[in-house]
Amino acid sequence: MRLPPDSLAFQMLGAAAAVRAVSEGTALPQAIEDAAAQLRLDRVRDAATRGALQDIAYRTMRQFGTARALVTKLVTRPPGAQVDSLLAVALALLLEQAPGQRQDKDSQDAAQGATQGTPGRAGYSTFTVVDQAVSAAASEPKTAHARGLVNAVLRRFLRERKALLAEVNRDEQARWNLPPWWLRMLREAYPEQWTDLAASVNVRPPMTLRVNTARVSVKQYQTDLANAGLAGTVVGPQAVRLVRAVPVTQLPGFAEGVVSVQDAGAQLAAPLLEVADGMRVLDACAAPGGKTGHLLELGDIDVTAVESDPQRATRINENLARLGKQARVVVGDASRPADWWDGQPFDRILADVPCSASGIVRRHPDIRWLRRETDIAKLVTEQRRIVSQLWPLLKPGGILVYVTCSIFPTEGEEQARWFGAQLADAIRLQAPGQLLPGTRTTTPPAGEQGEKDPGHASLPSDHDGFFYARFQKRA
Ligand SMILES: C[S@@+](CC[C@H](N)C(=O)[O-])C[C@H]1O[C@@H](n2cnc3c(N)ncnc32)[C@H](O)[C@@H]1O
Repeated sequence: MRLPPDSLAFQMLGAAAAVRAVSEGTALPQAIEDAAAQLRLDRVRDAATRGALQDIAYRTMRQFGTARALVTKLVTRPPGAQVDSLLAVALALLLEQAPGQRQDKDSQDAAQGATQGTPGRAGYSTFTVVDQAVSAAASEPKTAHARGLVNAVLRRFLRERKALLAEVNRDEQARWNLPPWWLRMLREAYPEQWTDLAASVNVRPPMTLRVNTARVSVKQYQTDLANAGLAGTVVGPQAVRLVRAVPVTQLPGFAEGVVSVQDAGAQLAAPLLEVADGMRVLDACAAPGGKTGHLLELGDIDVTAVESDPQRATRINENLARLGKQARVVVGDASRPADWWDGQPFDRILADVPCSASGIVRRHPDIRWLRRETDIAKLVTEQRRIVSQLWPLLKPGGILVYVTCSIFPTEGEEQARWFGAQLADAIRLQAPGQLLPGTRTTTPPAGEQGEKDPGHASLPSDHDGFFYARFQKRA
């Protein structure tokens, strides 16, 4: 039986396929693409259905630890991967509902025609989720046999929610929706703050814009937003945080490159390089080009953008084309400059290295389920290799900015100390250091020469987690 694409049941099945793919190691954006292709969803015609499927899959990832623990608890015999993932999706949606919401939302849904998938922060009513999960199970040969089980499991959860949660939440992965090794690293690094940090991964991030202030002031852009019916707060020299996220097509001047979507913490990178017209700048791990574009907005500079992933590298040119900017895009390995460097030294180097991405989990909720503890040591080695190989490319007096979107000190302050000790003629300059996601920020470490940090005076509120260090090569 083919379900209507605008039904929640159809969208839950698509989300369940995506969630299953994440469990097998695929990143969520790719898993959603694959699920949409499998369901023959057209990018334009079925945009609403794709959006709903994506929204449900993202919601599920945020509750995946609890949802999986509940499936294990409530299903005695393994029901098969398809049923398992459908149950996880349905339970995740039910977990978002406060227990008391049931009656109100049910009558509201009934009035609206209960079965339509209507994604939104308020979520779906419990009645709709159960009803549509059962329809979803019934519609597929691989899951039809389990529709009674799906119904029974979800209804039992609703009846015994409090007791069941008390029981499964004894397991910390279920309680925090983070793997045990991740929680251990948080506890060790942030003994006072780890619970806040663990909770912050499921807080929805704001949509923040970077305004090209060479074209329009932030204040003026705020007015342009208001004229378009959108409210935003100025949170940095170029940053406006929207009160409500919207598709980029609704942003005034987006197509013309007046504005880009970029987290306020990420917007600190380009100014830290202190570029001036005529400089040669290397953006060493560049895709999709968010920081490349920002750098090019700050000066008339010559940028080489290196990226090892050929597919991702194509996005740099796409993004720069919208901004009306150009860079020399090179598909190559930043740790092997002999393959791509023309021998001319750089005035500035941005090393936005691959990392655990532990600072941006609120935007990419699948990361915590994809990463393995063993990845961290490999990333640390890779980060050291990249920066050590790039350092000789920097002119005397030049500046290298090291960035990660991680909150683990092994990828942050510990790396910065290692670079300070290992890189020849390196002076550590003032920089923001560790930014924790949300509104918290740690004190930046002092620069060796007490100089001013160009980013810190204007640290924005509510940003993702980043680590920033700067090094100058002795002239
Ligand atoms: C944190 S992301 C960069 C984000 C980008 N700077 C921006 O602001 O849009 C890191 C990028 O480095 C790329 N990468 C990983 N290892 C690399 C290497 N050895 N050389 C060059 N790029 C690499 C990844 O494919 C990824 O696109």
